[in-house]
Amino acid sequence: MQHNRIILPEKTTDGSHTLYIPELDEHYHSVKGALTESLHIYCGLGLNHFVETHCDKMYVNVFEVGFGTGLNALLTMEMAIEKQLQVHYTTVELYPLTWEQLSPLGYSESVGFQQIHQLPWETEERVNEHFILHKLHKDVLTMEIPHEIDVVYFDAFAPEKQPELWCESLLQCIYDHMAEDGVLTTYCAKGAVRRMLQQVGFKVERLQGPPGGKREVLRALKVKQVLN
Ligand SMILES: C[S@@+](CC[C@H](N)C(=O)[O-])C[C@H]1O[C@@H](n2cnc3c(N)ncnc32)[C@H](O)[C@@H]1O
Repeated sequence: MQHNRIILPEKTTDGSHTLYIPELDEHYHSVKGALTESLHIYCGLGLNHFVETHCDKMYVNVFEVGFGTGLNALLTMEMAIEKQLQVHYTTVELYPLTWEQLSPLGYSESVGFQQIHQLPWETEERVNEHFILHKLHKDVLTMEIPHEIDVVYFDAFAPEKQPELWCESLLQCIYDHMAEDGVLTTYCAKGAVRRMLQQVGFKVERLQGPPGGKREVLRALKVKQVLN
């Protein structure tokens, strides 16, 4: 299921690179800084927030919507090593990129980046003692969402470009499959997305976006239900 779109590399403001799809007029990351965006929204407001608020929990299930270039996966693996976590990372991608498309990003010398991309799809693979990777070459709309997810990186293309992925039924399904106290982060701070997240049960926070990037981003928390 390889798409035939033209995909072009592009340098972002922080010096890191992203990819651009002219046909969709869409980038894989923020043009204000790909690396800064991944570190701030997903590793920082997502995973780091989760581990800081769950000091006793060193085993974390992460689910990413949109594997893309593998940048979020790589940075998460580096963070897992640094913080001595055990991360189980499930990620889904409908259109895997080729090594030829990924090379201009500038990570191809990184052993971690090579490992992440060389590992097969569909099977759970231990990359090192801190990181298990499960890449799924599937459509997130029809796949079976994993259970007991602690942290969700909701990194789909923008709602204007792929509205079908920003729907209540998918968000509800993800919410239902998350552990209590789970956290979801996304770069998209649109009011309609925020309201949809609230509608499915999340408590939503609007937080400061990455330095030099978007003004606001969203973090959605699955809070414990209080029974009367
Ligand atoms: C914003 S990019 C993700 C960037 C990525 N997280 C990274 O670190 O490079 C969105 C990704 O979602 C993928 N995608 C689009 N439709 C999808 C679908 N129905 N199911 C799974 N992935 C999909 C796209 O091909 C693209 O790689």
